Amino acid sequence: MSIRHFLTLKDLSTAELEQIIQRGVELKDLHRKKQIFEPFKNQVLGMIFEKSSTRTRVSFEAGMVQLGGAAIFLSSRDTQLGRGEPIEDSARVLSRMVDIIMIRTYKQSVLDRFSEYSQVPVINALTDTYHPCQLLADMQTYYEMRGSIKGKTVTWIGDGNNMCNSYINAAAQFDFNLNIATPKGYEPLEALVKQHGERITIKQTPEEAVRNSDLVVTDVWASMGQESEIQDRAKIFRAYQISPQMMDLAHKDALFMHCLPAHRHEEVSEDMLDDPRSVVWDEAENRLHVQKALIEFLLTHSQ
Ligand code: CP
Ligand code: NVA
Repeated sequence: MSIRHFLTLKDLSTAELEQIIQRGVELKDLHRKKQIFEPFKNQVLGMIFEKSSTRTRVSFEAGMVQLGGAAIFLSSRDTQLGRGEPIEDSARVLSRMVDIIMIRTYKQSVLDRFSEYSQVPVINALTDTYHPCQLLADMQTYYEMRGSIKGKTVTWIGDGNNMCNSYINAAAQFDFNLNIATPKGYEPLEALVKQHGERITIKQTPEEAVRNSDLVVTDVWASMGQESEIQDRAKIFRAYQISPQMMDLAHKDALFMHCLPAHRHEEVSEDMLDDPRSVVWDEAENRLHVQKALIEFLLTHSQ
């Protein structure tokens, strides 16, 4: 057995991803029944954050404690990482001390390099390019609400960002069709779109994209690290706001998801998150359950 990492959705097979989602459902049930499940006593999760977080930090930390272990929050501001200690050295040192590590950083290449030098499993907790943990939660949420997503039509509206790239990977892994509507110049990774061209349809307008969808997803117009572009993007993306009226173009039983945090009056209308089709709070909660399943999978499948 070798070390298993989770740097993108493609690091696991479809069967493994589905197994983790089913396990997320089971662990959620155990949690609801207040049943103690502590298989990882004395095991430690290192959590490296170079960007802000609410959901990711709390779900990983609470999840590891619930599994019987402990978690250490490491912000680059307060560690030697922020003072220029090479990522390779940090990986070698930290992975001798903890059992599993999650990282939220800017470049995917930093995560890749860290994982090359780590002796323990490494989880991508968001980079500029991908956010695979969020996709696990989204897929669990869709499964719980509507059953299998296979063959369904999912629509991404807005910025072709880390979440959009992850939806492309998810389309390939979970076998669904993906409509994408972004403003010109804000498309997802070109190579990824080419690679999965057979299941992606680029649409010219958000209305055209949403029509007949089973799931509609959006995200902020300016991601972390793009703060200087906020005002320009607000103008460029104006037509891409999701509202209940926009959702009316989708299938009757369509769901709406957003990884959060959301900006009302920007990518979502004032009332969108409270619309009955919105499942954003369940989606956020599922980060906890499905990441516990992910930790369990990686720890039990790594040497
Ligand atoms: N969705 C998500 O990753 O949220 P945080 O930035 O709060 O962790
Ligand atoms: N695309 C957003 C997601 C935040 C969870 C960002 O990267 O800031």
